[in-house]
Amino acid sequence: MLKLDKIIKTYNKGKNNAFEALHGISLTVESGEMVAIVGTSGAGKSTLLHILACIDGYDSGEYYIDDMVIGKLSEGKMADIRNEKIGMVMQDFALIEEFTALDNVMIPLDFAARGKKKGKKERKEIAIKMLEMVQMQNFADKPVNSLSGGQKQRVAIARAIVNEPSLILADEPTGALDTETTREIMKVFIDLNKQGKTIIIVTHDLTVAEQCSRVIKIEDGVIIEGN
Ligand SMILES: Nc1ncnc2c1ncn2[C@@H]1O[C@H](COP(=O)(O)OP(=O)(O)OP(=O)(O)O)[C@@H](O)[C@H]1O
Ligand SMILES: [Mg+2]
Repeated sequence: MLKLDKIIKTYNKGKNNAFEALHGISLTVESGEMVAIVGTSGAGKSTLLHILACIDGYDSGEYYIDDMVIGKLSEGKMADIRNEKIGMVMQDFALIEEFTALDNVMIPLDFAARGKKKGKKERKEIAIKMLEMVQMQNFADKPVNSLSGGQKQRVAIARAIVNEPSLILADEPTGALDTETTREIMKVFIDLNKQGKTIIIVTHDLTVAEQCSRVIKIEDGVIIEGN
C-alpha cells in the first residue's frame, strides 16, 4: 500500500524563484490497483510521480510504502527501494542514447540484488524477454538513438519492469504512440496489473484513463477528484 499524507513540494525552496508545486497531497493507493493520474500541463503530475518513485523528496507531510516512512530513509536505502520495488517510465524516457536497447534494459539488473545473483548470460535472457513483452526483440542490438519515439518508449517500459517491481509508475507512457501501439502498451500494463502489480499511469489520453480502475485528477498541485 502507498500512502501520501499532506505532501508539500516546493521547487527552488528558499530562493526568490521558489515555487510550491504540490500543496498538501493526501492519497492512498492499495496494492494491486491500477490508477490513472490526469490533469492539465503544469498541474504537478510528474512532480507527484517522482515523489512516489522515491526519485525526489518533499518538504513536509509523509510518504509511506507498506508502512515504511520514506522521508526517514537514508539515500542508500532509498536507492535499494527504487531498484527493487519500483519501476519508473520517465516522461522523457531517460534512456542512454548511445547504448543499445538491450544494454539499456540490462542496466537495472546490473544494480539490483536480483541481478547480481545471476550471470551475464541469464541477465541477457531476462532483458530479451522484457523486450519481447513490448515487441522490441528485433531491435535489441540497435542503439537507442536510432529508434523512433514510440520504440524508445517501449524500451523504457521494458527497462522499468525488468526487476519485476511491485510498483510500476509511468509518466505519459503512450504520449508519443499511435492508437494501435497505445493499445499494445496498455495490454502490457493490464497484464502486469493482473499479475498483481500496482500500476500508476500519468496520461492525457482518455482511452488510457478509462482502462484504469480509478482516475485521480490533479489541478494546480491539488487533487480535485478520485482520492
Ligand atoms: N525542476 C523544476 N524547477 C522549478 N519548477 C518546476 C520544476 N519542475 C516542475 N516545475 C513546475 O512545477 C509545476 C508542476 O510541474 P510538473 O512537471 O509536475 O507538471 P505536469 O503536470 O507533469 O505537466 P506536463 O503535463 O506538462 O508534463 C509546473 O508549474 C512546473 O513549471
Ligand atoms: Mg509531466
